[in-house]
Parts: sequence; structure tokens; C-alpha cells
Amino acid sequence: MAIQRTFSIIKPDATNRNLTGAINAKFEAAGLRIVAQKRIQLTMAQAGEFYGVHKERPFFGELCEFMCSAPIVAQVLEGEDAIAKNREVMGATNPADAADGTIRKEYALSIGENSVHGSDAPETAAVEIAFFFSGLELVG
Ligand code: CMP
Repeated sequence: MAIQRTFSIIKPDATNRNLTGAINAKFEAAGLRIVAQKRIQLTMAQAGEFYGVHKERPFFGELCEFMCSAPIVAQVLEGEDAIAKNREVMGATNPADAADGTIRKEYALSIGENSVHGSDAPETAAVEIAFFFSGLELVG
């Protein structure tokens, strides 16, 4: 498997609890390199655009409000098979289903406040990375 890049967000529930370093340590221990990172606070318009694929879902409003409620850390992670590896380190979307040792098992509060987001495929990774970062900001 070739070296890949994936997009990651450390969400407001985690930044509120000062868990950025603990979560980054999990990524690095799994062999993922943080090649870009910035702490920002989203507007409702930005959150709505980023999560546009979910706009018909009943939780869309709640999801956007949560993502704007405090700073997030947007990141690009690089490594062998990075998309699948990141999803493995994050664990299942619902922390009740997440495996032991995963970020969501250890830190997530609920299915909504689930500490991290990660891209699910190469196409979405490319779109999500470009949403937050310019090429100049990616230094592998
Ligand atoms: P994420 O990987 O960021 O992608 C979409 C997000 O929607 C997901 O993580 C969850 O945080 C959120 N989500 C999914 N299902 C629900 C739900 N049933 N209720 C609230 N939020 C949800």
C-alpha cells in the first residue's frame, strides 16, 4: 500500500477537554505523521458546507452547531494506508461500538460528540483537505 494522506478533525468536545496532544499521540503511535495542522473556529456556514453530504439527516443542525461551539483542530495525516489506519485508530462512529484502545472508546462522549472526524475514502480526503488547506500548507 502506498503512502496516503487523509483529513482529520479534532472536534470541540476534545479541544474543550484539552485532549489535542493525547489524540495526536495516538495518531503518531500508529505511524501517522501530522503534516499540516491548524486550530480554528468554524462558522455555521463553513460547518454546513463541510458536512453538506449530511444536510438531509435529522442530526444536521445539531452537528453544525456542535462543530461551531468551540475551536477545532483541522489536520492532514500522512502514512501508509493512512485513510484506513486513521479510521482504525478513531474507532466506530458511536463510542458504544468502538473497540478498546481507540480514540472514540477512550474519549468520545456520544455519537455526536465523538472527538474526531476522519475521511472515509481517497476522493473525500482530497476534497476535505482542499477545503481547509492550500498546497503551500502541506509539508510532508
Ligand atoms: P463524523 O465522522 O464527523 O461524520 C458525520 C458526523 O455526524 C459523525 O462523525 C457524528 O459525529 C455525527 N452523527 C452521526 N450520526 C449521528 C446521530 N445519530 N446523532 C448525532 N450526530 C450524529
